[in-house]
Amino acid sequence: MKFFIDTANLNDIKEANDLGILDGVTTNPSLMAKEGITGEENIINHYVTICNIVDGPVSAEVISTDFEGMVREGEKLAALHKNIVVKIPMIPEGIKAIKYFSGKGIKTNCTLIFSAGQALLAAKAGATYISPFLGRLDDVSTNGLDLIAQIRLIYDNYMFDTQILAASVRHPMHIINCAEIGSDVMTGPLSAIKALAKHPLTDIGLAQFLADHAKGNN
Ligand code: G3P
Repeated sequence: MKFFIDTANLNDIKEANDLGILDGVTTNPSLMAKEGITGEENIINHYVTICNIVDGPVSAEVISTDFEGMVREGEKLAALHKNIVVKIPMIPEGIKAIKYFSGKGIKTNCTLIFSAGQALLAAKAGATYISPFLGRLDDVSTNGLDLIAQIRLIYDNYMFDTQILAASVRHPMHIINCAEIGSDVMTGPLSAIKALAKHPLTDIGLAQFLADHAKGNN
């Protein structure tokens, strides 16, 4: 399973990248605003900066909600760097835009996926990735993992190339559960990625090894 980090925070991106396990980055307008990145020029520059840190797909989201606007924005974003993936919302105009970009060989990430039907449509339009929002479904008492499993079954039935990018991942168990189901990618915060490494027995065991080594060398 590929690991993407879901942030526009450059320190977190660098820290995850330095671990050597990072495969890509996803952003969205809320994450950009959270870092104080506003205005078209700053946003564009920020995407380029991220692309220069991580050698992997970087999702950059369009703001337009009409086909022409999405095409205009998406082509501009895609021209910034070879690793840019144009992130497009799951709305009818978005489906048209995904089909258009698919025909042009421009990679897309269909975002705001909350149902299997939406995932099926995005795959038929030729989306490179689809982003089902795991945590936000859990937030409304709906099992987000069930949706990931349902999409996995559908995509495998028809051998769709579209990759399942589990988004809105909140904690390490989400990551492990996504890996069990066979999600192609997960995107989550640095905290969830780092939490995978934590185990109290590892810490206790390491402390013991170091203490015993110190005793033997005194
Ligand atoms: O990038 C979209 C998604 O990951 C959002 O996550 O935590 O805001 O639901 P969250």
